[in-house]
Amino acid sequence: MAARGLGLLTSLPLRARRSQVQRPLCRLLSCPGTVAAAVGREEQSSGRAETGSEDRTPKKRFSEVQKERREQAQRTVLIHCPNKISEKKFLKYLSQHGSINNHFFYESFGLYAVVEFSQKESVASLQNVTRTPSLGTEAAIPFRSRYFNLKLKTPLNQTSEQSSIRCRNQSSPSSKKLFELLCCAESVDDQLNTLLREFELTEENTKLRYLTCSLIEDVAAAYFPDCTVRPFGSSVNSFGKLGCDLDMFLDLDEIEKFSTHKVSGNFLMEFQVKNVPSERIATQKILSVVGECLDHFGPGCVGVQKILNARCPLVRFSHQASGFQCDLTTNNRIALKSSELLYMYGALDSRVRALVFSIRCWARAHSLTSSIPGAWITNFSLTVMVIFFLQRRSPPILPTLDYLKTLADAEDKCIIEGHNCTFVRDFNRIKPSGNSETLELLLKEFFEYFGNFAFNKNSINIRQGREQNKPESSPLHIQNPFETSLNISKNVSQSQLQKFVDLARESAWILHQEDKDRLSPSNNQPWGLAALLLPSVANSMSLAKKKKKPASERIKNLLESIKSESTENSTATNG
Ligand code: GTP
Ligand code: MG
Repeated sequence: MAARGLGLLTSLPLRARRSQVQRPLCRLLSCPGTVAAAVGREEQSSGRAETGSEDRTPKKRFSEVQKERREQAQRTVLIHCPNKISEKKFLKYLSQHGSINNHFFYESFGLYAVVEFSQKESVASLQNVTRTPSLGTEAAIPFRSRYFNLKLKTPLNQTSEQSSIRCRNQSSPSSKKLFELLCCAESVDDQLNTLLREFELTEENTKLRYLTCSLIEDVAAAYFPDCTVRPFGSSVNSFGKLGCDLDMFLDLDEIEKFSTHKVSGNFLMEFQVKNVPSERIATQKILSVVGECLDHFGPGCVGVQKILNARCPLVRFSHQASGFQCDLTTNNRIALKSSELLYMYGALDSRVRALVFSIRCWARAHSLTSSIPGAWITNFSLTVMVIFFLQRRSPPILPTLDYLKTLADAEDKCIIEGHNCTFVRDFNRIKPSGNSETLELLLKEFFEYFGNFAFNKNSINIRQGREQNKPESSPLHIQNPFETSLNISKNVSQSQLQKFVDLARESAWILHQEDKDRLSPSNNQPWGLAALLLPSVANSMSLAKKKKKPASERIKNLLESIKSESTENSTATNG
């Protein structure tokens, strides 16, 4: 690994060293040219993830993004198309209903098109010429949705008519491709940015998420006209990986906004409503009927499960056409606010998302996280841990939540169910960090920090940005940023936490070893982030565990010896 033979340059800052000794792109024999070309193309098209070179384009507020995307989704339709179709004729046919702003195709058990009209009226115009199918032996339940099925009266047989349709990819890369890309990278920083580019939600995938919410809103509106279905969680907080679930929030408060609450003379008008004993029961009843509605009448909604006795009641279903696993909740406004907070943190510094994506992928690769609920750590908790770690750097890379609260103005004020959820939402009021540490260093230090964190007595708290005494005995305590008496990782067992700590130490050790071996001859072994994602790390560790001392103890000792070595070296250099 000649590119990482940096031993003689130790007195230069890491970033400078990386730029002087560049790993030639696809120098490795294992890198096929096609992948290199793909990397090159990606680099040209997306300058989003470069560490250090902060994006100067004004950052939009979360509420602005949500509003724009929602409005865009309301002008958009989803069409299941025949596999053989002429794109040109298809667009011409649809243009009869109005001009088209944007469209794309994707594959998910068939070919689908997402078509965004310029005007909402075009959707109604298309619906007016659409029929309900007659299905022979089965009966159709009529529903004028924005999800259509396009049929050809006569199949296309002239190949000249079939322009080759370019489908937008909606899934993350295979492990093989990811390893190839990572091994071709020039530096660990480049690896983290590559991983971010490969896994982050694409523009099309984001559009499809908002469209799916909008289609579900149409169904829920059968019971609650003027309701809103909003995406939250990783679909919108900027930490979503391709393939992540779609968390939806059924917002009934919007209905209230249509009334002006006019008091005229001595009169005040109220709606007659049904009362139930508690908010929770109201939530369960609302989700129950919407769940039924999705199950019976929601086009493309399959496998509907009503999970109403959970701490946060929800309806879970698959939206077949988009391929999203959806979780619909209501009365969950704090989660929406958490998504906004995470979005802010993700946009404040370009290193945040790159680091979070890598840690999430690392945790997934070692089965620390799972899509099945259980005693594992969640992606949400991992993200909060990264934010906390970045608040602890010197100088800090991210501000504390309390500091963001001090910058807030009257418009930012937000109290939800008695919890103060206020923080500044205007990016211009937050000073950028003066910290210029590389992603490589941050990754290594993240593992070291949490590999040695006193989880037995300390709690992680992003509100104050410092460790605090644990208020209760759960193995892992991460304070909920808004409901401060709650622990977001209460579910995590001692053994899962220990697995996390062991893997963090092992990963820190691997990165330290690589630093030490920089002068060793190059080989085609996975290195840097690629080495950390290999399942063999966990396996070798569990093997080592069976032998002699516990792996965690051995690694801790090794880390300590490396630390004292580097302190000695720096003292020697300074001297
Ligand atoms: P992935 O779906 O795993 O990609 O991440 P996610 O952030 O979407 O997590 P998840 O689907 O589990 O939860 C959705 C959102 O609900 C999160 O982003 C949080 O805003 C919120 N949330 C999740 N878990 C908790 C929790 O334990 N406490 C609180 N207050 N909010 C949570
Ligand atoms: Mg989610």
